[in-house]
This record gives sequence, structure tokens and C-alpha cells, in this order.
Amino acid sequence: MGKIFDWKTNIKEKELNEVISVLNEGGLVVFPTETVYGIGANALDENASKKIYEAKGRPSDNPLIVHVSDKKMIYDLTENISLVEQKLIDAFMPGPFTLILKKKSKIPSSVSAGLNTVGIRMPSNKIAHTIIEKLGKPIAAPSANVSGRPSGTNIEDIKYELLDRVSIMIDGGDTDIGLESTVVKVEDDIPVILRPGKISKEDIEKVVKEARVDKNVFEEPKENAVVESPGMKHKHYAPKTRCILVNYEDKKKQLEEINKMIENKNACVIGFKEHKPFINTNKFINIGKIDNLNEISKNIFSSLRKADNMNCDLIVIEGTKKEGIGLAIMNRLIRACNYDVKE
Ligand code: TXA
Ligand code: MG
Repeated sequence: MGKIFDWKTNIKEKELNEVISVLNEGGLVVFPTETVYGIGANALDENASKKIYEAKGRPSDNPLIVHVSDKKMIYDLTENISLVEQKLIDAFMPGPFTLILKKKSKIPSSVSAGLNTVGIRMPSNKIAHTIIEKLGKPIAAPSANVSGRPSGTNIEDIKYELLDRVSIMIDGGDTDIGLESTVVKVEDDIPVILRPGKISKEDIEKVVKEARVDKNVFEEPKENAVVESPGMKHKHYAPKTRCILVNYEDKKKQLEEINKMIENKNACVIGFKEHKPFINTNKFINIGKIDNLNEISKNIFSSLRKADNMNCDLIVIEGTKKEGIGLAIMNRLIRACNYDVKE
């Protein structure tokens, strides 16, 4: 059974030493980042990173993101960085951004799931940064959740799921962004977004002329299809209960449709604050104000978990526009609903 360290107000020096010892001995630590919580291990220790796959029940073909505290670590772990890649590093690191780069052999193949590339991320969260810097080694960390479940954005949501699978869980409060980092791979000098996040296509196009969004961000990959990012084809973010995403241009029609869908059903609705009075259910979860995409992104995963705990037979979710971080919000919701979308 693991321990919980409360670092919501400050990092405790003695406990930090314990965290470093656990990581040096090949153990697992759950820690906050600005996006979501991560479940981390020493990225240079093959056995330690294998434990992450076990703890999450993660398919072994889905590579881990490697977290660093400075640029020197990036150059130490990767090679052949192009001009475009360097521009992206300079513009978006530290921050909620992961860049797929060619890896050096010191990164064990269990971390990269046998690929010759590795996802590199430099978190801006103070706790994450301090741990990596003090360890002096990169930390491999996927999102802290059992594979296929919504990512953890606070310790309360994930402690029953993970506390008996790791040595330490660090409570840093609610994560700022609530959605995982933007994952980008540069192909023929063009950044391709493999997973949208807070750093949007528009943000990237301020740094380089053109960016693209991979088609599998919104389309369900066909069985056995070759995808750019293994995470695209795995079941993801899903509550156990069936979900439907509703996203009509006409919001009045949307409310009517939702009320029809939930009539005589034990349904719960994840919807906008302003819509609560118009939706006929007492199982309403407020995901945020309709125009506040940052608030919505922060609440997505905890709302999905709340809905799942309400024991209903159906979860209906209101969608957002696909601009800026809205693209990332819709990507997560569409997958939570297993591509069942009414629009
Ligand atoms: O915000 C985040 O990125 C969080 C925090 C903890 O840093 N981490 C996270 O990791 O979301 P994870 O493992 O849940 O998602 C990593 C995604 C997966 O979809 C994986 O397939 C993709 O990144 N990925 C990792 N390495 C890759 C590679 N070499 N090539 C293509 N995709 C890769
Ligand atoms: Mg994940």
C-alpha cells in the first residue's frame, strides 16, 4: 500500500528525499503536472518502466512519454533535432507539449515500446520540475489512471485505483489544464498534431508557417490500421457507462434532443452551467460555462468519473466548438463516447 504526501501548499524536503530514493530504487511515484497526474519511474531503468505497464494494465505497444527538467536532458536523450523541432522546443517547453524525437539507445525499448522515437515533455509544474531536477534523470510517465479509464486530475479521483500499485502518491491539488499535453511529430518539416491539447494548432502556426492535425484525431482507426501514435487505437478515457455526445449548432434544438433522449431513462447529463434549468434530470453535472473552454477542459475527466459513479444507464454529454483547446476537448469526449456523436 502506498503513502500519500500532501504538497498542496509546499514541497516537503524530507518527503522529497523519500520520493527520490523510491525512484532511484526502481519504484513508482504518482505526481502532478500542469496537464494531468502522471505515474512515473526512472526512464533509464528498463525494469522500473516495465512496472508502469503492469500498474496501469497498459498494452505494451503503447510508448511512455519521457519527462525532462531542462534542454540539456533533451539533447542527451535524442538526436538529429531539426530546425523546426528546435523552434517548437524553444516556443513550447516547458509547458503542456510533447515532441516525438529520434531516440538514443540509452532510452530502454520498454519505454519507447520498441519504436526508434520517443515523446519528450518538459513539465512547467513546480512539483514535477523539482522531482526531475533533483533526481537528475528523466522520468517516464503516462497519465495516472488504469488503462482505458479517464486520466486523473486530482488525487481523490485516482487514489482507490492506484494507491496499492505505487509507493507514493503526491497530492498537488487539482491540475491546471485538466487535459493531457499536445503530442506533435514533425514530418517533412511540418508539425503534425497526433493528440490535441492546450497548445493548439493556431499556437503552433504562430511559430512555424503550417501545422496539421492527424486524421485519426477524430476518425476511428480501422482495425489493424497503421497509426502514427499507438495511443490512437486503444480504448481511451471511457467511463464504464454508455455515453452519447450531443453537439448541434442550434442549442435550443440540442436541449430538446437531450430531453427526448433521457425521457423515462435513468440518465445523467454532463452539460453547461447555463443549460441546467432546461434539462429534465436531477442527475446533472456542471462541466462549466458554455464559453469558458479552459474551465471545461479542467472539468472533463472528473465529470466523466462523477457520472460513472452515479450508477445511471446512460451518460449524455454536451459538446463544444472545435477551436483552440476545444479541439482537444472534443477529441477526448468523442473517444469517451466511443465515436457515438449526434450533431
Ligand atoms: O500531459 C501528458 O502528456 C501526460 C502527463 C503525465 O505528462 N502524459 C500522458 O501520457 O498523457 P500517456 O502515456 O497517457 O499518453 C501518451 C501518448 C499516447 O497516446 C502515446 O501513444 C503517445 O503519446 N506517444 C508516446 N510516445 C510516442 C511515440 N514515440 N510516437 C508516437 N506517439 C507516442
Ligand atoms: Mg493516458
